[in-house]
Amino acid sequence: MRIAVVGSGYVGLVTGACFADMGHEVVLVDNDEKKLAELRNGEVPIHERFLPELLARHRGQHIKFSGDLQAATRESEVVIIAVGTPPTESGDADLSYVESVAREISGGVDEYKVVVEKSTVPVYTSQWIRTIIMRNGTDPALFDVASNPEFLREGTAVTDFLYPDRIVVGVESDRAAEVMRQLYGPLTSGWYYGRGDAIPRPDAAKVPPRLIITSTKSAELIKHASNAFLAMKISFINAVASICESVGANVEQVSDGIGTDSRIGPQFMNPGIGYGGSCFPKDLLAFRAVAKESGYDFRLLEEVIRINEEQRHRFLRKVRSVLWTFRGKRLGVLGLAFKGGTDDIRESPALLLVQELLREGCHICAYDPAAMERAKEVLKSGVEFAGDAYEAATGADAVLILTEWEEFAALDLERLRTLVKYPIVLDGRNLYDPAVMVKHGFSYYSVGRPAALSEELPARAQPQKRERA
Ligand code: UDX
Repeated sequence: MRIAVVGSGYVGLVTGACFADMGHEVVLVDNDEKKLAELRNGEVPIHERFLPELLARHRGQHIKFSGDLQAATRESEVVIIAVGTPPTESGDADLSYVESVAREISGGVDEYKVVVEKSTVPVYTSQWIRTIIMRNGTDPALFDVASNPEFLREGTAVTDFLYPDRIVVGVESDRAAEVMRQLYGPLTSGWYYGRGDAIPRPDAAKVPPRLIITSTKSAELIKHASNAFLAMKISFINAVASICESVGANVEQVSDGIGTDSRIGPQFMNPGIGYGGSCFPKDLLAFRAVAKESGYDFRLLEEVIRINEEQRHRFLRKVRSVLWTFRGKRLGVLGLAFKGGTDDIRESPALLLVQELLREGCHICAYDPAAMERAKEVLKSGVEFAGDAYEAATGADAVLILTEWEEFAALDLERLRTLVKYPIVLDGRNLYDPAVMVKHGFSYYSVGRPAALSEELPARAQPQKRERA
C-alpha cells in the first residue's frame, strides 16, 4: 500500500520505518527542511534500537522523505498523522498541529483515502479531523478518519510496533476497517514473521497479533486509559514501597507476591523515583482534562500524579538523611534519561533530581550512556559530565543511581569501592541486591527495602534518623 506518515518524530519515524519493513511504500512528511535533509543523508535523529537498520534498509527505496504534504496525500491510500500534541498550561493537549495537518490534507484528497490519527489525542479528535477536512472543501464520501493509537515504548519501539500485544483500530465505516486490515495484514496474517530478514522476535511476543476493531471514540479512550492504568500500577507499587520503608518490609518480596497473581501481573511493578518520559506525565494530565470536560472528576488520576511527584521528594529526603548537609558535597550521578535504553530526558525524574540537588549546592558528576548530549543543553552549570560510571563515582561522597540502565546493574563493585570517597550508594531504581552491596563494603539505600549498612562505614556517614513515611 502507499502510505504517507506526517511528522518524523519518535512515533512517525518508527511507524514509517516499520510499515516500509512490512512491504508498504512510505513517504515520510515533515515541515522541517533541516530534519528532512538529515534524514535523506542517512542520519538517525533518535536513539532507538533497530531504527538505523530499518532506515538504512529502506531509505530511497521503500521510504522517501518529503516536505509536500498535499502531494504526499495525493499519492497515498492511507495518511497517518503522527505529529506532536504537547500539553497546554492547563494540561490538555494542544491539537493545533493536528488541525493544521488536517487542513492541508484536505487539499490532497482527490480519491478515497483513510486518514489515520496515531498521535495520542483526546476523545472526539477524529471527529474534529473529519470536520476540518470537510470544512476545507473535501467531499465526505472521499475519506474516512480512523484512530490507531500506538503503544510504543521508547528504546523498544521498533519491536513493540512489529510484535505488538494487539493492534487497536477505531473506525466508523466498513470501508475504512477493510483498508486498516490490509495495512496491518503483513502482521496479522503472520507473513512478516516468516521472513528470514524480519526484525528478531522478542522472547515474550505472541504472533500473529490480534486486530481489535472498535469505534473511533473507544480507540481514543483505549490509549489514554492504558497509559493511565500503567502509571497507576507504578504509583501503586511506589506507595506500597513507602509503607514497606516505614514498617521494615521489603517491596521486592511484596511485589513478587502480588505480581504472581495472574490477575495483577508482574510488569510495571518496579518501584523507584517515579515515572517520566514524553507520554505518561502528559497523557495523565490530558486524560484528566478529558474526564473533566466530559463531566467526570477523575481524582484517582490526581493521586497517581501526586504519588509520582512525592516519590522524587522522598528520594531527595533520603539522600539528605544519609549525607546530612548538601552544600559542597560531590555526588556521582548514574543516569539522566527518564528510563534505561533511551536518550530522552523529557520529564525525567533523574534530571529533575539533579536540578534539585544543584539548587541545594551539591556538585554533580554525571554519566548516562545515551542522554548526556541532551542533558548538557539543560544542565548549564555545576555539572561535570563523565566518560563512564567509574569516572562519575571518583571522589564521590555518595553515588546515586537514577536510571535503570542495564550497565548500571553490572558495575564492577570492587573497582567502584576503590574510587569513591565514601562507599555510599543510593539506588533510586533498586538495581542491586542489598546483601551483595554490603559484602562489597557499601552502605546501600534503595526504595522500599531496608537500608543495608556496611560495618566499615564511619559512623558520621550513617543516617541521623530513620526517615519518616
Ligand atoms: C509508555 C508506554 O509504555 C507506551 O505504551 C506508550 O505508548 C508511551 O508511554 P515509555 O514512555 O517509552 O512508554 O516508557 P515506559 O517503558 O512505559 O516507562 C515509563 C516510565 O515509567 C519510565 O520513567 C520508567 O522508568 C518508569 N517505570 C516503568 C517505573 O518506574 N516502574 C516500572 O515498573 C516501569
